[in-house]
Amino acid sequence: MRLGSFILPSAGATPEQFEQGFAGQNPIYYQKGLRDAGRLIQQLEDLGFDFIAFSEHHFHVEGLEISNNPVLLGTWAAMQTKRIRLGQMGSVLPARNPILLAEDLAMLDHFSEGRMMAGFARGYQSRHVATIGQNMNAFPTTATDPEFEEHDRINRELFTEHYTIIRKAWDNSLFSHHGEHWQIPPEGIKWDHPATMHMAPGMVGNDGMLKQVGIAPQTLQDPSTIEVFTPFTMSEDTIKWAAGEGVIPVIFTPIEEIAKGCLNLYHQAAQAAGRDIPWGRGVGHFRDIVVADTDQEAFDIAASGMGYIWNRWHHWFGFNEALRYPGETGKIPNTHETIRERGYALCGSVDTVARKLEHMIETLNTDLIVPWMGLGPASIDKLLKSNELLVEKVLPKIGIELKQFKPTLRKEFQGDLWRSA
Ligand SMILES: Cc1cc2nc3c(=O)[nH]c(=O)nc-3n(C[C@H](O)[C@H](O)[C@H](O)COP(=O)(O)O)c2cc1C
Repeated sequence: MRLGSFILPSAGATPEQFEQGFAGQNPIYYQKGLRDAGRLIQQLEDLGFDFIAFSEHHFHVEGLEISNNPVLLGTWAAMQTKRIRLGQMGSVLPARNPILLAEDLAMLDHFSEGRMMAGFARGYQSRHVATIGQNMNAFPTTATDPEFEEHDRINRELFTEHYTIIRKAWDNSLFSHHGEHWQIPPEGIKWDHPATMHMAPGMVGNDGMLKQVGIAPQTLQDPSTIEVFTPFTMSEDTIKWAAGEGVIPVIFTPIEEIAKGCLNLYHQAAQAAGRDIPWGRGVGHFRDIVVADTDQEAFDIAASGMGYIWNRWHHWFGFNEALRYPGETGKIPNTHETIRERGYALCGSVDTVARKLEHMIETLNTDLIVPWMGLGPASIDKLLKSNELLVEKVLPKIGIELKQFKPTLRKEFQGDLWRSA
């Protein structure tokens, strides 16, 4: 079993302080948020978590999701750790320049000595995607959008083209791309620099025009082995795309019947793509896991952390739809009880969580769980104790050992890594 932690992060403030407003711009809360995140990341490395992954959201003056740049946060975390991998869940690809993102991820891979993993999301917050992505004509994918069909189509078109460009940049020394949204390089760039002609043969044509480009540095890891993740909430096309590409979807819904449907779809699409993987594998599951000495104490910690953020902020984007039973009509109650009773928040005493986790692992045959940690509004000391109880009491109780993905560096890399020389 692998555990990877999803960290928004939020400002280091209490729900009462958030309600006073502009918590995201309060330097005291941001510094406290970094301090708490630093303690958490160190603990997760020591406990054997496989990775941490940051979200991408912008303009968060409310302070609930202050993660403008998950690759930069990954670099910050890399400098404090040695083994845990650094991911994003995810960089919002339709509104990101794919060349700059391919370069930044390659640099994170070198800074972290080969511990980068990549996560790409489609993006659902309009104030972020439509503002930052306006020059790419990017739109969020939001089920409540009156023009959902067309906007979702463009969102997915940009997502897949940007992913293709990132792959080309990682998988090839030099590459060109001529797609719907990007011309790389554009026609008509004269670049008959003698040094380039000599040092980068193939970049410039005999006519002195730029034909290809390449990123430098490239990834430290062998790009064919880099793990790529994508959040999945509702679109079957995302699961099929991920299965075809060998990308790991992180499934949101805890509703067994729906989750099993997603696993069937992924398994069939993976087999159709010639990938022979057992049912239930190749995917991750998103959950909030809080362990405490008593069920009630755990419920309270979870409600004060992830519960506060979800019920105060995410419900507005339709997150409660991920908790809807098949065929269920009517409004889903926007309460932490709902999140807990419908199985997204696995919280309670050691025995309670062990029972719930064992059932989930058996039912979904999963080997990868991504706990969303309510860092910020929840007490950091209670979250740290919860993680300790999870790894040192709960997992042994159900016979689970934590595993970690082993990165593979490029075969041409010999010598010392920058920190170990
Ligand atoms: C685990 C997880 C993490 C997510 N992280 C982000 C994020 O960082 N930024 C964002 O805009 N959307 C994020 N989303 C939402 C996705 O971008 C996307 O809107 C949603 O998954 C719907 O896409 P789908 O129709 O392809 O399933 C996340 C969703 C999940 C399940």
